[in-house]
Amino acid sequence: MFSVSAAALATMAPATGAIAAIKAITLQAQPTDIQLSGADGPTSQMMVYNGVFPGTEIRLQQGDRLNARLENALEEGTLIHWHGIRVPNAMDGVSMLTQEVLSPRQSYDYRFSVPDAGTYWYHAHYLSYDQVARGLFGPLIVTEARPPDLDRDITVQLLDLKVDPNGRFDPETDTSAFTTLGRIGNDQRAHLSDPRPVRIGDRIRLRLINTATDRIVAVQIKGLLGRLVALDGMPLAAPREYEIVTLGPGQRADVIGDVTGAITLDDVRDDVHALGGLPISGERTRRQVAVASLPPNPAASLGRPTQNVELVMQGGAGGDVHGGFAGWAFNDVSGLSGQPFTRIRRNETLTIHLVNTTAWPHAIHLHGQHFYEIGPDGVVGDYRDTTLLEPGQARNIACRFTNRGRWLLHCHMLSHQADGMATWIDVT
Ligand code: C2O
Ligand code: CU
Repeated sequence: MFSVSAAALATMAPATGAIAAIKAITLQAQPTDIQLSGADGPTSQMMVYNGVFPGTEIRLQQGDRLNARLENALEEGTLIHWHGIRVPNAMDGVSMLTQEVLSPRQSYDYRFSVPDAGTYWYHAHYLSYDQVARGLFGPLIVTEARPPDLDRDITVQLLDLKVDPNGRFDPETDTSAFTTLGRIGNDQRAHLSDPRPVRIGDRIRLRLINTATDRIVAVQIKGLLGRLVALDGMPLAAPREYEIVTLGPGQRADVIGDVTGAITLDDVRDDVHALGGLPISGERTRRQVAVASLPPNPAASLGRPTQNVELVMQGGAGGDVHGGFAGWAFNDVSGLSGQPFTRIRRNETLTIHLVNTTAWPHAIHLHGQHFYEIGPDGVVGDYRDTTLLEPGQARNIACRFTNRGRWLLHCHMLSHQADGMATWIDVT
């Protein structure tokens, strides 16, 4: 049975004199039968919000308030995390750190405003290696007060489904996957929010979101003369040329460019996997002006670091013995302990030396604030919420912690997170 409950969407007019709008939405997490391969295909039991797979897009304007009611119609607990959004700690949706797991038939009101424009997403943050694999996620798009001049603004959810030979969702994760690459699918797709044909000469924005639980994608975009304009929601100081856009699980990239032919998206990380695209219909005169940078978000500039700490990734198949109890560990500890990885005062700057001693890549995600990737030469690089480290790689990141609370730091390969690769930072 295909069950769809209408999303309760209402935009309330701001009270006189108010600057921000309030958007109210109800997200009902529910088991839902979905036909993954179209109307003629078999049904799979997924878990989704409001009956929609892949997830319903929430679109706000910078500075708006979101009132999101999560209703748990699952047979198990759940929580929502608003990935990349600078929310108050109590709204962050992390069990053991910020809120109790929401039991079946309970509801919870998440209320926060969105200070930064950009491409973000929301997803289940309880048993997430399973709940996200089954579909509990969606895009959260925050538009600029003055958006760039575009013909089309398209959200691209990159999916990595694991299906059985009949085309049904395959819930099995072979246990060795937890200590290797994680749960890797066999049906990769790009789901476009607006699949209508484009014209040659159209200026379009593609908001790429890697929603995979564990797969890294290297996206090659054909048919677009584009520039990379944002990473993990945050605008780049200047538009950047790219050939391939590599995204670890949880990472996002925004590309703006002019259409030169049919758009195709391929993942070229291992072999070439066609993900999808957009056909052409018609033509328009191309804009004379080059793609400009997006307006900057109110980012915190770095201070002089008051702590330099090291975070060593350990474990996985072929890895050395470590002190943690699970397959993976940070600094000899698996999973969340009562003690944070480090304590810092609000507004202090912390440098973290990330070291991947393992034979596997990891995508390290910090909740609550973005951080800067620091180049080998000490140069301050991109401002991100998730940083990808290949096997044997090390990288410094620096962050001014402007947001008080208990913030999770974990690998966004959700199988790795489930198997110990998580810790937290206490900002007092
Ligand atoms: Cu997108 Cu802790 O996760
Ligand atoms: Cu990992």
